[in-house]
Amino acid sequence: MQHDLFAPLWLQYKIQNMTSFKMKIQKKIYLRLPVCVSLLSLLLSGVEAAQKTNSDKIPDRIILNLTTQPSTSIAVTWRTIVETINPSAQISETSEWIEFTSSAKHFQANKERLVLDNGKSVYQYSVIFNGLQPNTKYCYRVGGDSIWSEWNQFGTAENKTAPFAFLYFGDAQHGLKTFYPRIAREANRKHPEAKFWLFSGDLIDRPQYDSLWYEFFYASNFIHSYVPSVMVPGNHEYGKEDSSGEKISSEMLIDSWKPHFTLPENGIMGLEETSYSFVYQGVRFVMLNGNEKLQEQAKWLDSVLSKKSEQWVIATVHQPLYSMSKTRDQRKTRDAFLEVFDKYSIDLVLQGHDHVYARSATLVNGAKVNATAKGTVYVTSNSGSDSYRINPLYSNLMDKFGTDVQLYQVVSINGRKLSFSAYTATGAVYDTFELIK
Ligand SMILES: [Fe+2]
Ligand SMILES: [Fe+2]
Repeated sequence: MQHDLFAPLWLQYKIQNMTSFKMKIQKKIYLRLPVCVSLLSLLLSGVEAAQKTNSDKIPDRIILNLTTQPSTSIAVTWRTIVETINPSAQISETSEWIEFTSSAKHFQANKERLVLDNGKSVYQYSVIFNGLQPNTKYCYRVGGDSIWSEWNQFGTAENKTAPFAFLYFGDAQHGLKTFYPRIAREANRKHPEAKFWLFSGDLIDRPQYDSLWYEFFYASNFIHSYVPSVMVPGNHEYGKEDSSGEKISSEMLIDSWKPHFTLPENGIMGLEETSYSFVYQGVRFVMLNGNEKLQEQAKWLDSVLSKKSEQWVIATVHQPLYSMSKTRDQRKTRDAFLEVFDKYSIDLVLQGHDHVYARSATLVNGAKVNATAKGTVYVTSNSGSDSYRINPLYSNLMDKFGTDVQLYQVVSINGRKLSFSAYTATGAVYDTFELIK
Protein backbone atom coordinates (compact mmCIF):
# COMPACT_ATOMS: atom_id res chain seq x y z
CA MET A 1 0.00 0.00 0.00
CA GLN A 2 2.65 2.52 -1.04
CA HIS A 3 0.17 5.44 -1.46
CA ASP A 4 -0.56 5.43 2.40
CA LEU A 5 2.84 7.09 3.06
CA PHE A 6 1.85 10.20 1.15
CA ALA A 7 -1.74 10.50 2.46
CA PRO A 8 -2.74 13.18 5.05
CA LEU A 9 -2.87 12.03 8.72
CA TRP A 10 -6.71 11.96 8.90
CA LEU A 11 -6.79 9.84 5.80
CA GLN A 12 -4.05 7.51 7.06
CA TYR A 13 -6.10 7.03 10.29
CA LYS A 14 -9.17 6.21 8.21
CA ILE A 15 -7.20 3.82 6.06
CA GLN A 16 -5.66 2.21 9.17
CA ASN A 17 -9.10 1.66 10.62
CA MET A 18 -10.33 0.34 7.36
CA THR A 19 -7.31 -1.92 7.16
CA SER A 20 -7.89 -3.27 10.64
CA PHE A 21 -11.53 -3.82 9.74
CA LYS A 22 -10.39 -5.54 6.55
CA MET A 23 -7.94 -7.62 8.58
CA LYS A 24 -10.79 -8.79 10.77
CA ILE A 25 -12.66 -9.81 7.69
CA GLN A 26 -9.55 -11.44 6.29
CA LYS A 27 -8.99 -13.26 9.59
CA LYS A 28 -12.52 -14.57 9.43
CA ILE A 29 -11.97 -15.61 5.86
CA TYR A 30 -8.65 -17.28 6.72
CA LEU A 31 -10.30 -19.15 9.58
CA ARG A 32 -13.02 -20.32 7.25
CA LEU A 33 -10.74 -20.83 4.26
CA PRO A 34 -10.47 -24.61 4.52
CA VAL A 35 -14.25 -24.84 4.67
CA CYS A 36 -14.62 -22.44 1.73
CA VAL A 37 -12.05 -24.31 -0.33
CA SER A 38 -13.77 -27.59 0.43
CA LEU A 39 -17.16 -26.19 -0.54
CA LEU A 40 -15.75 -24.64 -3.69
CA SER A 41 -13.97 -27.81 -4.76
CA LEU A 42 -17.12 -29.80 -4.01
CA LEU A 43 -19.11 -27.39 -6.16
CA LEU A 44 -16.57 -27.49 -8.97
CA SER A 45 -16.30 -31.28 -8.89
CA GLY A 46 -20.10 -31.42 -9.01
CA VAL A 47 -20.16 -29.14 -12.06
CA GLU A 48 -17.37 -31.16 -13.64
CA ALA A 49 -19.18 -34.42 -12.95
CA ALA A 50 -22.42 -33.00 -14.34
CA GLN A 51 -20.58 -31.75 -17.43
CA LYS A 52 -18.88 -35.12 -17.85
CA THR A 53 -22.15 -36.96 -17.43
CA ASN A 54 -23.85 -34.64 -19.90
CA SER A 55 -21.03 -34.90 -22.44
CA ASP A 56 -21.22 -38.67 -22.17
CA LYS A 57 -24.92 -38.37 -22.98
CA ILE A 58 -24.41 -36.26 -26.10
CA PRO A 59 -25.25 -38.28 -29.23
CA ASP A 60 -22.14 -39.34 -31.12
CA ARG A 61 -21.43 -41.35 -34.30
CA ILE A 62 -24.68 -40.15 -35.88
CA ILE A 63 -25.15 -41.83 -39.23
CA LEU A 64 -27.98 -41.91 -41.77
CA ASN A 65 -28.61 -45.11 -43.72
CA LEU A 66 -30.87 -45.61 -46.69
CA THR A 67 -33.90 -47.83 -46.26
CA THR A 68 -35.77 -49.87 -48.86
CA GLN A 69 -38.06 -46.85 -49.35
CA PRO A 70 -35.65 -43.91 -49.72
CA SER A 71 -38.37 -41.54 -50.95
CA THR A 72 -40.48 -41.89 -47.81
CA SER A 73 -38.13 -43.03 -45.03
CA ILE A 74 -34.58 -42.92 -43.71
CA ALA A 75 -32.75 -44.59 -40.81
CA VAL A 76 -30.55 -42.91 -38.23
CA THR A 77 -28.22 -44.54 -35.70
CA TRP A 78 -26.22 -42.95 -32.88
CA ARG A 79 -24.44 -43.73 -29.63
CA THR A 80 -23.94 -42.37 -26.13
CA ILE A 81 -21.54 -43.48 -23.42
CA VAL A 82 -24.01 -42.94 -20.58
CA GLU A 83 -27.40 -44.54 -21.15
CA THR A 84 -30.23 -42.32 -22.35
CA ILE A 85 -33.31 -43.53 -20.50
CA ASN A 86 -35.84 -42.31 -23.07
CA PRO A 87 -33.98 -42.16 -26.37
CA SER A 88 -35.82 -40.58 -29.25
CA ALA A 89 -35.52 -38.57 -32.41
CA GLN A 90 -37.47 -35.63 -33.83
CA ILE A 91 -38.04 -34.71 -37.44
CA SER A 92 -39.72 -31.92 -39.32
CA GLU A 93 -39.83 -30.52 -42.82
CA THR A 94 -37.24 -27.81 -42.81
CA SER A 95 -38.00 -24.09 -43.02
CA GLU A 96 -36.04 -20.91 -43.62
CA TRP A 97 -36.35 -19.82 -39.99
CA ILE A 98 -36.35 -22.08 -36.94
CA GLU A 99 -40.10 -22.49 -36.68
CA PHE A 100 -39.72 -26.02 -38.11
CA THR A 101 -39.01 -27.18 -34.56
CA SER A 102 -42.61 -26.53 -33.48
CA SER A 103 -43.99 -29.08 -35.94
CA ALA A 104 -41.38 -31.76 -35.26
CA LYS A 105 -42.68 -35.32 -34.98
CA HIS A 106 -41.38 -37.52 -32.21
CA PHE A 107 -40.02 -41.06 -32.81
CA GLN A 108 -39.14 -43.43 -29.97
CA ALA A 109 -35.73 -45.04 -30.52
CA ASN A 110 -34.57 -48.62 -30.28
CA LYS A 111 -31.79 -49.07 -27.76
CA GLU A 112 -29.10 -51.70 -27.33
CA ARG A 113 -26.09 -52.00 -25.06
CA LEU A 114 -22.79 -52.73 -26.76
CA VAL A 115 -19.90 -54.13 -24.72
CA LEU A 116 -16.59 -52.82 -26.08
CA ASP A 117 -13.22 -54.54 -26.26
CA ASN A 118 -12.16 -52.77 -23.04
CA GLY A 119 -15.12 -54.29 -21.19
CA LYS A 120 -16.98 -50.99 -20.92
CA SER A 121 -20.52 -50.58 -22.21
CA VAL A 122 -21.93 -47.96 -24.56
CA TYR A 123 -25.48 -47.50 -25.83
CA GLN A 124 -26.49 -47.54 -29.47
CA TYR A 125 -29.84 -46.19 -30.66
CA SER A 126 -31.72 -46.24 -33.93
CA VAL A 127 -34.85 -44.80 -35.46
CA ILE A 128 -36.43 -45.29 -38.86
CA PHE A 129 -38.22 -42.10 -39.84
CA ASN A 130 -41.12 -43.13 -42.04
CA GLY A 131 -44.12 -41.38 -43.54
CA LEU A 132 -41.89 -38.77 -45.16
CA GLN A 133 -42.63 -36.90 -48.39
CA PRO A 134 -40.58 -37.63 -51.51
CA ASN A 135 -38.01 -35.11 -52.73
CA THR A 136 -38.37 -33.05 -49.55
CA LYS A 137 -35.81 -31.54 -47.23
CA TYR A 138 -36.07 -32.44 -43.54
CA CYS A 139 -34.42 -31.47 -40.27
CA TYR A 140 -33.92 -34.01 -37.52
CA ARG A 141 -32.18 -34.38 -34.20
CA VAL A 142 -31.50 -37.34 -31.93
CA GLY A 143 -31.03 -37.80 -28.21
CA GLY A 144 -33.48 -37.78 -25.32
CA ASP A 145 -33.51 -37.02 -21.59
CA SER A 146 -33.26 -33.30 -22.56
CA ILE A 147 -29.89 -33.78 -24.27
CA TRP A 148 -29.99 -33.48 -28.04
CA SER A 149 -27.79 -33.43 -31.08
CA GLU A 150 -27.80 -30.46 -33.41
CA TRP A 151 -30.55 -30.29 -36.05
CA ASN A 152 -29.26 -32.03 -39.18
CA GLN A 153 -30.68 -31.66 -42.67
CA PHE A 154 -31.15 -34.22 -45.42
CA GLY A 155 -33.37 -34.71 -48.47
CA THR A 156 -35.55 -37.68 -49.38
CA ALA A 157 -35.32 -39.33 -52.79
CA GLU A 158 -37.79 -38.70 -55.56
CA ASN A 159 -40.45 -41.41 -55.91
CA LYS A 160 -39.83 -41.83 -59.63
CA THR A 161 -36.95 -42.40 -62.01
CA ALA A 162 -34.81 -39.28 -61.95
CA PRO A 163 -31.12 -38.47 -62.51
CA PHE A 164 -28.81 -38.68 -59.49
CA ALA A 165 -25.24 -39.41 -58.44
CA PHE A 166 -23.71 -41.40 -55.61
CA LEU A 167 -20.17 -41.94 -54.33
CA TYR A 168 -18.48 -45.33 -54.11
CA PHE A 169 -15.57 -46.08 -51.76
CA GLY A 170 -13.38 -49.20 -51.71
CA ASP A 171 -11.64 -50.39 -48.53
CA ALA A 172 -11.17 -47.43 -46.14
CA GLN A 173 -9.66 -49.86 -43.63
CA HIS A 174 -6.09 -48.50 -43.32
CA GLY A 175 -5.08 -45.00 -42.32
CA LEU A 176 -8.59 -44.23 -41.10
CA LYS A 177 -7.46 -41.20 -39.11
CA THR A 178 -4.40 -40.34 -41.15
CA PHE A 179 -4.97 -40.82 -44.87
CA TYR A 180 -8.59 -41.89 -45.48
CA PRO A 181 -10.05 -38.54 -44.24
CA ARG A 182 -8.56 -36.57 -47.15
CA ILE A 183 -10.33 -38.84 -49.64
CA ALA A 184 -13.67 -38.73 -47.82
CA ARG A 185 -13.51 -34.97 -47.35
CA GLU A 186 -12.30 -34.26 -50.88
CA ALA A 187 -15.15 -36.39 -52.21
CA ASN A 188 -17.68 -34.51 -50.11
CA ARG A 189 -16.24 -31.10 -51.01
CA LYS A 190 -16.14 -31.82 -54.74
CA HIS A 191 -19.41 -33.75 -54.96
CA PRO A 192 -21.97 -32.41 -52.52
CA GLU A 193 -24.62 -33.41 -55.07
CA ALA A 194 -24.11 -37.11 -54.24
CA LYS A 195 -27.33 -38.52 -52.81
CA PHE A 196 -25.56 -41.20 -50.78
CA TRP A 197 -22.23 -42.93 -50.14
CA LEU A 198 -21.72 -46.62 -50.88
CA PHE A 199 -18.98 -48.66 -49.20
CA SER A 200 -17.92 -52.02 -50.63
CA GLY A 201 -16.63 -53.48 -47.36
CA ASP A 202 -13.49 -53.56 -45.19
CA LEU A 203 -14.42 -50.25 -43.67
CA ILE A 204 -12.32 -51.07 -40.62
CA ASP A 205 -9.25 -53.27 -40.36
CA ARG A 206 -9.97 -54.75 -36.94
CA PRO A 207 -13.51 -53.78 -35.95
CA GLN A 208 -13.15 -55.63 -32.66
CA TYR A 209 -11.44 -52.44 -31.50
CA ASP A 210 -13.78 -49.55 -30.83
CA SER A 211 -10.90 -47.09 -31.26
CA LEU A 212 -10.87 -47.97 -34.98
CA TRP A 213 -14.62 -47.43 -35.30
CA TYR A 214 -13.99 -44.08 -33.65
CA GLU A 215 -11.46 -43.30 -36.38
CA PHE A 216 -13.88 -44.26 -39.16
CA PHE A 217 -16.50 -41.88 -37.79
CA TYR A 218 -13.87 -39.22 -37.07
CA ALA A 219 -12.84 -39.26 -40.74
CA SER A 220 -16.20 -38.15 -42.07
CA ASN A 221 -17.45 -36.64 -38.85
CA PHE A 222 -20.77 -34.84 -39.37
CA ILE A 223 -20.97 -35.74 -43.08
CA HIS A 224 -22.55 -39.05 -42.07
CA SER A 225 -25.30 -37.15 -40.28
CA TYR A 226 -26.60 -35.59 -43.50
CA VAL A 227 -25.39 -37.81 -46.37
CA PRO A 228 -26.88 -41.32 -46.05
CA SER A 229 -24.71 -44.40 -46.51
CA VAL A 230 -25.10 -48.01 -47.54
CA MET A 231 -22.44 -50.62 -47.00
CA VAL A 232 -21.66 -54.33 -47.13
CA PRO A 233 -19.25 -56.12 -44.82
CA GLY A 234 -15.86 -57.27 -46.08
CA ASN A 235 -13.85 -60.14 -44.67
CA HIS A 236 -12.47 -57.69 -42.08
CA GLU A 237 -15.96 -57.20 -40.66
CA TYR A 238 -16.02 -60.93 -40.07
CA GLY A 239 -14.24 -62.91 -37.39
CA LYS A 240 -13.82 -63.31 -33.68
CA GLU A 241 -10.54 -62.69 -31.90
CA ASP A 242 -9.36 -63.98 -28.56
CA SER A 243 -7.93 -61.68 -25.91
CA SER A 244 -4.47 -61.84 -27.50
CA GLY A 245 -5.80 -60.62 -30.84
CA GLU A 246 -5.64 -64.01 -32.56
CA LYS A 247 -8.50 -64.67 -34.96
CA ILE A 248 -10.38 -67.70 -33.65
CA SER A 249 -13.24 -67.71 -36.16
CA SER A 250 -13.79 -66.05 -39.50
CA GLU A 251 -17.37 -67.27 -39.82
CA MET A 252 -19.22 -64.63 -37.87
CA LEU A 253 -20.18 -61.04 -38.54
CA ILE A 254 -18.50 -58.80 -35.99
CA ASP A 255 -20.74 -57.81 -33.05
CA SER A 256 -20.30 -54.08 -33.69
CA TRP A 257 -21.63 -54.00 -37.31
CA LYS A 258 -25.37 -53.99 -36.61
CA PRO A 259 -25.25 -51.61 -33.62
CA HIS A 260 -23.41 -49.01 -35.72
CA PHE A 261 -25.75 -49.10 -38.74
CA THR A 262 -29.44 -49.52 -39.49
CA LEU A 263 -29.49 -51.16 -42.91
CA PRO A 264 -32.25 -52.96 -44.81
CA GLU A 265 -33.26 -56.47 -43.77
CA ASN A 266 -34.96 -57.62 -46.96
CA GLY A 267 -32.34 -60.19 -48.01
CA ILE A 268 -32.14 -63.82 -46.91
CA MET A 269 -32.73 -64.86 -43.33
CA GLY A 270 -29.56 -64.62 -41.24
CA LEU A 271 -27.96 -61.93 -43.39
CA GLU A 272 -30.06 -58.99 -42.25
CA GLU A 273 -28.26 -55.66 -42.72
CA THR A 274 -25.49 -57.31 -44.74
CA SER A 275 -27.30 -58.52 -47.88
CA TYR A 276 -30.23 -56.49 -49.18
CA SER A 277 -31.73 -54.62 -52.08
CA PHE A 278 -33.30 -51.22 -52.68
CA VAL A 279 -34.32 -48.96 -55.55
CA TYR A 280 -33.12 -45.36 -55.66
CA GLN A 281 -34.82 -43.13 -58.24
CA GLY A 282 -35.27 -45.95 -60.71
CA VAL A 283 -31.94 -47.76 -60.19
CA ARG A 284 -31.91 -51.20 -58.55
CA PHE A 285 -29.08 -51.80 -56.05
CA VAL A 286 -28.22 -55.28 -54.79
CA MET A 287 -25.85 -55.36 -51.84
CA LEU A 288 -24.28 -58.80 -51.41
CA ASN A 289 -22.41 -60.29 -48.48
CA GLY A 290 -19.37 -62.06 -49.97
CA ASN A 291 -18.53 -63.84 -46.73
CA GLU A 292 -21.24 -66.47 -46.26
CA LYS A 293 -24.38 -68.13 -47.66
CA LEU A 294 -23.31 -67.30 -51.22
CA GLN A 295 -25.47 -69.89 -52.96
CA GLU A 296 -28.54 -68.84 -50.99
CA GLN A 297 -27.87 -65.22 -51.88
CA ALA A 298 -27.51 -66.14 -55.55
CA LYS A 299 -30.97 -67.75 -55.49
CA TRP A 300 -32.41 -64.73 -53.71
CA LEU A 301 -30.74 -62.43 -56.23
CA ASP A 302 -32.22 -64.42 -59.09
CA SER A 303 -35.67 -64.07 -57.59
CA VAL A 304 -35.24 -60.31 -56.97
CA LEU A 305 -34.00 -59.66 -60.49
CA SER A 306 -36.65 -61.85 -62.13
CA LYS A 307 -39.24 -59.32 -60.94
CA LYS A 308 -37.27 -56.20 -61.57
CA SER A 309 -38.59 -53.41 -63.74
CA GLU A 310 -35.65 -51.04 -63.39
CA GLN A 311 -33.47 -50.12 -66.35
CA TRP A 312 -30.19 -50.14 -64.39
CA VAL A 313 -28.90 -52.68 -61.87
CA ILE A 314 -25.79 -52.11 -59.75
CA ALA A 315 -24.40 -54.83 -57.47
CA THR A 316 -21.92 -54.52 -54.63
CA VAL A 317 -19.83 -57.34 -53.19
CA HIS A 318 -16.56 -57.05 -51.32
CA GLN A 319 -14.59 -59.96 -52.79
CA PRO A 320 -14.02 -59.29 -56.51
CA LEU A 321 -15.00 -61.85 -59.11
CA TYR A 322 -11.77 -61.15 -61.02
CA SER A 323 -8.99 -60.48 -58.53
CA MET A 324 -6.17 -58.18 -59.53
CA SER A 325 -3.80 -58.37 -56.56
CA LYS A 326 -1.57 -60.70 -54.59
CA THR A 327 -2.08 -64.28 -55.74
CA ARG A 328 -5.81 -64.12 -55.21
CA ASP A 329 -8.55 -65.65 -57.28
CA GLN A 330 -11.94 -65.24 -55.65
CA ARG A 331 -13.57 -68.31 -57.12
CA LYS A 332 -16.24 -68.41 -54.43
CA THR A 333 -17.94 -65.16 -55.39
CA ARG A 334 -17.48 -65.88 -59.09
CA ASP A 335 -18.91 -69.39 -58.80
CA ALA A 336 -21.87 -68.10 -56.82
CA PHE A 337 -22.83 -64.89 -58.62
CA LEU A 338 -21.45 -64.87 -62.16
CA GLU A 339 -24.30 -66.87 -63.66
CA VAL A 340 -26.96 -64.57 -62.19
CA PHE A 341 -25.02 -61.42 -63.08
CA ASP A 342 -24.83 -62.66 -66.67
CA LYS A 343 -28.43 -63.89 -66.76
CA TYR A 344 -29.74 -60.40 -65.99
CA SER A 345 -26.84 -58.45 -67.52
CA ILE A 346 -26.20 -56.54 -64.33
CA ASP A 347 -24.63 -53.29 -65.48
CA LEU A 348 -22.01 -52.61 -62.85
CA VAL A 349 -20.43 -54.54 -59.97
CA LEU A 350 -18.66 -52.49 -57.28
CA GLN A 351 -16.04 -54.38 -55.26
CA GLY A 352 -13.11 -54.00 -52.86
CA HIS A 353 -10.70 -56.33 -51.06
CA ASP A 354 -7.75 -56.18 -53.49
CA HIS A 355 -6.44 -52.73 -52.44
CA VAL A 356 -5.84 -51.80 -56.07
CA TYR A 357 -7.90 -50.16 -58.80
CA ALA A 358 -9.20 -52.39 -61.59
CA ARG A 359 -11.99 -51.73 -64.09
CA SER A 360 -12.96 -54.38 -66.56
CA ALA A 361 -14.25 -54.14 -70.08
CA THR A 362 -17.85 -55.23 -70.55
CA LEU A 363 -17.78 -58.95 -69.74
CA VAL A 364 -20.01 -61.97 -70.20
CA ASN A 365 -18.98 -65.25 -68.64
CA GLY A 366 -15.43 -64.12 -68.07
CA ALA A 367 -14.83 -62.85 -71.61
CA LYS A 368 -14.86 -59.43 -73.22
CA VAL A 369 -17.80 -58.50 -75.39
CA ASN A 370 -18.45 -55.47 -77.53
CA ALA A 371 -18.83 -52.38 -75.31
CA THR A 372 -22.33 -51.79 -76.69
CA ALA A 373 -23.40 -55.40 -76.08
CA LYS A 374 -25.20 -56.54 -72.95
CA GLY A 375 -22.78 -57.45 -70.19
CA THR A 376 -21.25 -56.35 -66.92
CA VAL A 377 -18.46 -53.97 -65.92
CA TYR A 378 -16.57 -54.96 -62.76
CA VAL A 379 -14.74 -52.33 -60.70
CA THR A 380 -12.45 -52.78 -57.72
CA SER A 381 -11.24 -49.75 -55.79
CA ASN A 382 -9.38 -48.67 -52.67
CA SER A 383 -9.78 -45.54 -50.55
CA GLY A 384 -7.41 -46.40 -47.68
CA SER A 385 -3.63 -46.19 -47.39
CA ASP A 386 -2.67 -49.84 -47.83
CA SER A 387 -2.03 -51.02 -51.38
CA TYR A 388 -1.18 -54.43 -52.81
CA ARG A 389 0.91 -55.48 -55.78
CA ILE A 390 -0.88 -56.11 -59.08
CA ASN A 391 -1.49 -59.71 -60.03
CA PRO A 392 -1.90 -59.79 -63.84
CA LEU A 393 -4.03 -62.95 -63.81
CA TYR A 394 -7.07 -61.15 -65.27
CA SER A 395 -5.34 -58.10 -66.70
CA ASN A 396 -6.51 -59.10 -70.20
CA LEU A 397 -10.09 -58.42 -69.01
CA MET A 398 -9.28 -54.97 -67.63
CA ASP A 399 -9.45 -51.65 -69.43
CA LYS A 400 -7.72 -49.85 -66.56
CA PHE A 401 -5.80 -50.96 -63.50
CA GLY A 402 -3.15 -49.67 -61.12
CA THR A 403 -2.06 -49.55 -57.52
CA ASP A 404 -0.61 -47.14 -54.92
CA VAL A 405 -3.46 -44.69 -55.32
CA GLN A 406 -6.26 -43.61 -52.97
CA LEU A 407 -9.52 -43.14 -54.86
CA TYR A 408 -13.18 -42.29 -54.64
CA GLN A 409 -15.70 -42.77 -57.43
CA VAL A 410 -18.70 -40.80 -58.65
CA VAL A 411 -21.44 -42.76 -60.40
CA SER A 412 -24.12 -40.68 -62.15
CA ILE A 413 -27.21 -42.11 -63.78
CA ASN A 414 -29.26 -40.00 -66.14
CA GLY A 415 -31.83 -41.85 -68.25
CA ARG A 416 -30.03 -44.16 -70.67
CA LYS A 417 -26.57 -42.99 -69.59
CA LEU A 418 -24.43 -44.10 -66.66
CA SER A 419 -21.25 -42.06 -66.11
CA PHE A 420 -18.45 -43.33 -63.90
CA SER A 421 -15.36 -41.41 -62.77
CA ALA A 422 -12.62 -42.35 -60.32
CA TYR A 423 -10.81 -39.43 -58.67
CA THR A 424 -7.53 -39.28 -56.78
CA ALA A 425 -7.03 -37.40 -53.51
CA THR A 426 -5.45 -34.56 -55.51
CA GLY A 427 -8.60 -34.13 -57.59
CA ALA A 428 -7.26 -35.71 -60.80
CA VAL A 429 -9.47 -38.01 -62.87
CA TYR A 430 -7.91 -41.46 -62.65
CA ASP A 431 -10.42 -43.33 -64.78
CA THR A 432 -13.69 -42.56 -66.50
CA PHE A 433 -16.19 -44.39 -68.67
CA GLU A 434 -19.81 -44.33 -69.74
CA LEU A 435 -22.42 -46.99 -70.28
CA ILE A 436 -25.27 -46.26 -72.65
CA LYS A 437 -28.46 -48.32 -72.80
FE1 LIG B 1 -11.04 -57.65 -47.77
FE1 LIG C 1 -9.24 -54.88 -47.43
